[in-house]
Amino acid sequence: MASIPLHPQSRYDSVARLLHWVIATLVILNIIGGLAHDALEGIVNVMPLHKSTGITVFFLTVLRIVWRLVNPPPPLPSNMASWEKAASHATHASFYLLMVLVPLTGWIMVSAGTRPLDWFGLFPISKFGVTKGDAIVDISGEGHEILAILFGVLALIHIAAALRHHFLLKDTILRRMAG
Ligand code: HEM
Ligand code: HEM
Repeated sequence: MASIPLHPQSRYDSVARLLHWVIATLVILNIIGGLAHDALEGIVNVMPLHKSTGITVFFLTVLRIVWRLVNPPPPLPSNMASWEKAASHATHASFYLLMVLVPLTGWIMVSAGTRPLDWFGLFPISKFGVTKGDAIVDISGEGHEILAILFGVLALIHIAAALRHHFLLKDTILRRMAG
């Protein structure tokens, strides 16, 4: 049965939706690539792609945050339980933090290395003025790993919540964000 189209004011605007799906795809690819890079050593070097993709996520996230400030998202359905609204806001706020911090810690970490940094081989990317042994480099190295794993766990919860809304509760939550 065809579903009734949502009112434009009760769904995310097209720019927010596009940014959500592009960033989500790149984040998922980077979590998988990051976790698999040791196992793939000697077969394929995923790191150059990982770095360029991650830096792309950083800039798209900045764009997304600015867009969100100017174009606030639609309010959550009024019949949603308050614990669920709070959980949704907490997950989304943590996501925005991770979408900035995970790429940034990666960028700081590799800035201390000797390998040049570029964007998909097309143009060079500046490095931060840090060197091996700086506290910020060590914190970023540890932070990148821990936060990226937390990111993966939160992503699984987020995806499970979206699917629960769509298939079990049969409400409009997933359709608010669907392309
Ligand atoms: C969406 C953004 C990113 C995600 C989700 C992500 C995720 C990950 C994950 C899951 C790992 C494996 C952690 C481990 O178990 O050791 C990893 C490793 C790594 N990431 Fe990222 N990353 C992102 C962005 C970046 C960026 C922007 C850079 C650098 C410019 C970067 C550089 C690295 C490096 C060099 C490693 C290997 C660290 C090691 O082997 O010790 N990442 N990343
Ligand atoms: C790891 C990848 C993902 C990230 C980082 C991510 C991030 C986010 C963020 C930050 C929001 C809040 C939007 C805002 O209010 O500004 C959001 C909303 C949403 N996401 Fe994701 N997302 C990811 C993957 C997915 C996937 C795979 C699905 C579907 C299965 C999904 C479904 C949704 C839905 C339905 C909403 C809207 C919730 C609402 O109406 O409040 N997301 N996502």
